[in-house]
Amino acid sequence: MAQKIATFDDWKDLFYAWQKDIGFDASLVKDYKFDAIYGEGTSPEIEFGEFKGRKKFEKVLDIPTQDMRDSLLHLIFYQGDTEFGSSEQQRKLIDTAPSDYDRMCLLRVMREEQRHGWQMCHVLISNFGDSGKVEARKLLERRAYNGTRLLGAFNKNIDDFIDFVTYTCFIDRDGKYQLTMLHPSSFAPLSRSMGPMLKEEAFHLFTGQSGLSRIIKAGKVPVEIVQKYLNKWLSTGYDLFGKDCSSAAARFYRWGFKGRFDEATASSPPKDLDRLNEEARNLYYKEDCQIIDSLNALVPEGKPKLCAPDPKFNRQIGDCAGKMYSVEGNPLSEAEYKEHLAKVLPGPVEAKILAPIFKAGNWMAAGTA
Ligand SMILES: [Fe+2]
Ligand SMILES: [Fe+2]
Repeated sequence: MAQKIATFDDWKDLFYAWQKDIGFDASLVKDYKFDAIYGEGTSPEIEFGEFKGRKKFEKVLDIPTQDMRDSLLHLIFYQGDTEFGSSEQQRKLIDTAPSDYDRMCLLRVMREEQRHGWQMCHVLISNFGDSGKVEARKLLERRAYNGTRLLGAFNKNIDDFIDFVTYTCFIDRDGKYQLTMLHPSSFAPLSRSMGPMLKEEAFHLFTGQSGLSRIIKAGKVPVEIVQKYLNKWLSTGYDLFGKDCSSAAARFYRWGFKGRFDEATASSPPKDLDRLNEEARNLYYKEDCQIIDSLNALVPEGKPKLCAPDPKFNRQIGDCAGKMYSVEGNPLSEAEYKEHLAKVLPGPVEAKILAPIFKAGNWMAAGTA
């Protein structure tokens, strides 16, 4: 890859080379035009934090300090990293989609995630000078399958279509939270990027939730195995909200870069600026439980009901990182924990049970757009 980017067009060449390198056949989405799309944003004025009431920052140089500019750059390339990471994780599924409909959904999700990455790079290159160009290039150099994406969740394997629909239901739901929190951002180009991205995100969530519903309706994949996929991806989703007590999140809020999930309707300022991540994660957990309740309505009598793993389970980030808790949230010894993980997460045993089910087909009920 070329090392220097002078214009956004130079970056586009790197993007097409990246598609090729990850094995994404661009001819599958040849009618799709990758583009940066800016909406209206939420308000011309800063809506929360220390600069509330002032005009939003249109340019990086409108932002008062270098410290703030660096943090904002960081926030944007972290978001971009997740977008490209997800396409890398999903790249091998194209040939294994259970139906043409599912393949169509997969390709739409992949091209839109790529567009989200494209959008973040457009913001970086158009606004942040050389450092933006360097970060936009680095976004196309890291690889999920080499473990070099910035967040652990985006280095995990997506092995099959149950992974895909669980991921789009719960990891893309984290995406919805992040984009919603960035929507009222004090940096106008970032705020204006979020509306169109959120619109696209809604389809990803639909693909995930309806996909899980279709698996349960078809009744071929044991509900116990679906539960293991929930354990894998929900615990990953909890981690994505970051440390429970985060001074970075507090700074992002004070500077108006990133609000609360319910910022638009919140009637008072946050009680504890250091606990913003925890607050967002709690809302996410509640929403996950509602989704699971609606899936449970489809689980036949006599079969075990699905549930969200306890937020303490399998955590790599936050107060419970590296601690040994069961899916029910009970503390375990090291030996118990090792055995427990093997039992509650999908692994080779489940892959063996699923292989003939996948092969026989019709393991997802028919889908409709
Ligand atoms: Fe996205
Ligand atoms: Fe998404």
